Amino acid sequence: MELLFLVLLSVHIAKTATEGDKEWCYLSQKWTQSECAEPGVWDTVNEECGKKKQSPINIVTNKVKYKEDLKPFTFEGYNTNQSSPWRIENNGHTVKVSLSGSAKIGGGGLRNKYNAIEFHFHWGTSKGFSPGSEHSIDGERYAMELHIVHRKEGFSSTEQAVTDKEGLAVLGFFIKTGAKNENYEPLIEMLNEVAVKGSQKSMTSLPLQSLIPAKENLTHYYRYNGSLTTPNCNQAVVWTIFQEPIILKESQVKNFLETLYFTKDKTLLMTDNFRPVQPLSDRIVYRSDVSVIQPPAKALLVVPTLIYVMSLLFQ
Ligand SMILES: *[C@@H]1O[C@H](CO)[C@@H](O)[C@H](O)[C@H]1NC(C)=O
Ligand SMILES: *[C@@H]1O[C@H](CO)[C@@H](O)[C@H](O)[C@H]1NC(C)=O
Ligand SMILES: *[C@@H]1O[C@H](CO)[C@@H](O)[C@H](O)[C@H]1NC(C)=O
Ligand SMILES: [Zn+2]
Repeated sequence: MELLFLVLLSVHIAKTATEGDKEWCYLSQKWTQSECAEPGVWDTVNEECGKKKQSPINIVTNKVKYKEDLKPFTFEGYNTNQSSPWRIENNGHTVKVSLSGSAKIGGGGLRNKYNAIEFHFHWGTSKGFSPGSEHSIDGERYAMELHIVHRKEGFSSTEQAVTDKEGLAVLGFFIKTGAKNENYEPLIEMLNEVAVKGSQKSMTSLPLQSLIPAKENLTHYYRYNGSLTTPNCNQAVVWTIFQEPIILKESQVKNFLETLYFTKDKTLLMTDNFRPVQPLSDRIVYRSDVSVIQPPAKALLVVPTLIYVMSLLFQ
């Protein structure tokens, strides 16, 4: 009897201690895990989540500004297998692959070099095949989004890096359905092995380059200052969102939507693990290329000029 009382008391104390420090979750988990903090109240998990430079955002293409500094990136160690194997894990929010940090990026208007430390994905649900990207372009979202997280050279932990406003650089890639992408097969084959929360496995590393579009197509991108899209939502991220999407076959996307679980057992499928878009506030989104949309007036001029040139040629 006394023992039971002690057990109940300690359960009560444990519960009280974690209040205000509730576990955060996505809206898709709220139905079954009613105790958890959904995106709308992440500011109760960490006040940073309620600040004004949060991510993701919707990018309005006719409001973005051209910035000349946004030159092509340099990628180092992106084209080789890394010397150590990758660790792939289900952390209860996403599937994440930890990297050794030997791959690097520079250029791209960044003021430093940054080491690749991990990558992970955000996705939707196969019910109605609803999109799961975090960022959107003119309100349109993609099937999935890949984030390759890089840490500013010189920092040895993420905790350190987030104390710097530009401590992290995340490369964001949209994923769209289309032809089969063989390069993703070794990764997709591992998903089964890390189906439940907390599971992790080691896998043969792949060249990071094989998971993203060809380098020639990575010169068109958007840039803004934002945050991590999960608590603690640190506003320490220089964001790059590439225009060119990664192509995966619909069945490959479904492998992500239908294999992983939010839970330690197979009770709640991991779906819709994205944060809704956040207010832009007074931030500016920049783009790397001059020509995005031809103003209609210019496009209309081309035809009469062409007819005139042709008439000269054929008279
Ligand atoms: C990476 O390793 C795989 C398997 O070990 C091998 O098939 C592939 O050719 C390697 N790729 C590179 C770029 O070294
Ligand atoms: C670059 O993108 C264009 C348009 O999406 C595509 O046709 C082309 O094949 C891509 N180039 C490479 C090298 O992948
Ligand atoms: C991001 O913020 C820094 C100051 O912390 C500023 O110098 C830089 O221009 C900003 N970049 C963008 C893309 O707004
Ligand atoms: Zn992410």
